[in-house]
Amino acid sequence: GSVLNKKKDLAGKTIVITTGGTREPLDPVRFIGNRSSGKMGYAMAAAARDRGAMVRLISTVDLPESAGMEVTRVQTAAEMLGAVKNSVKGADALIMAAAVADFKPSKVASEKIKKASASLDLKLEPTTDILGEVKGKFVRIGFAAETSELIDNAERKLDAKNLDIIVANDVTAPGCGFGSDTNKVTLIFRDGHMEDLPLMSKREVADAILDRAVPIFAPMAR
Ligand code: CTP
Ligand code: CA
Repeated sequence: GSVLNKKKDLAGKTIVITTGGTREPLDPVRFIGNRSSGKMGYAMAAAARDRGAMVRLISTVDLPESAGMEVTRVQTAAEMLGAVKNSVKGADALIMAAAVADFKPSKVASEKIKKASASLDLKLEPTTDILGEVKGKFVRIGFAAETSELIDNAERKLDAKNLDIIVANDVTAPGCGFGSDTNKVTLIFRDGHMEDLPLMSKREVADAILDRAVPIFAPMAR
């Protein structure tokens, strides 16, 4: 439909969205990364913008759909944590669609690592859990990309990360692979109820998530 027909039910709200896979450097030319394309978070950001929200997007990737958003580019989990901490001040929601590295190289070589040796041991150390670290009185939405025990794993994360909604995503299901323009998710809410959404475009999934988030915003006086 035309932009004029869109409901502006997020007017006056500020929404922080993270997207893309973080990249943890090993040396000046290499990093440890993951297969996240950033498309789901960009779709969330575009949907929120079109519904009238002020969007602060924190991304590891550049995608075309970024007009009318404040985009902060980051690479590492640590940079994303810093950007999130800055951005959540005064925000109404934090939507963590990014695939954040769980481990980073313990040290970054200052010169390119050479292939001369017969083997290379990498020592990794944990990154900070952004949702675990960033507290505040805003709506909290997380994503759980799983390859097995989708619901159990997602429910555990909903509790551990104190989320209002977790978007559970079986990345092995047809039409849900990395880089896909479609997704099929199950939404799990803080009160324990669940909703299976059909296979849809990522933009439709984003609008469905925002539809469920709007009533959570409403009772909070800001
Ligand atoms: N997340 C985060 N900070 C991290 C890792 C993950 O904020 N360092 C967020 C993700 O953006 C996502 C949610 O936590 O919204 C779940 O991420 P996921 O990787 O599925 O969960 P983990 O807690 O990292 O557990 P595991 O990878 O072991 O399944
Ligand atoms: Ca993880």
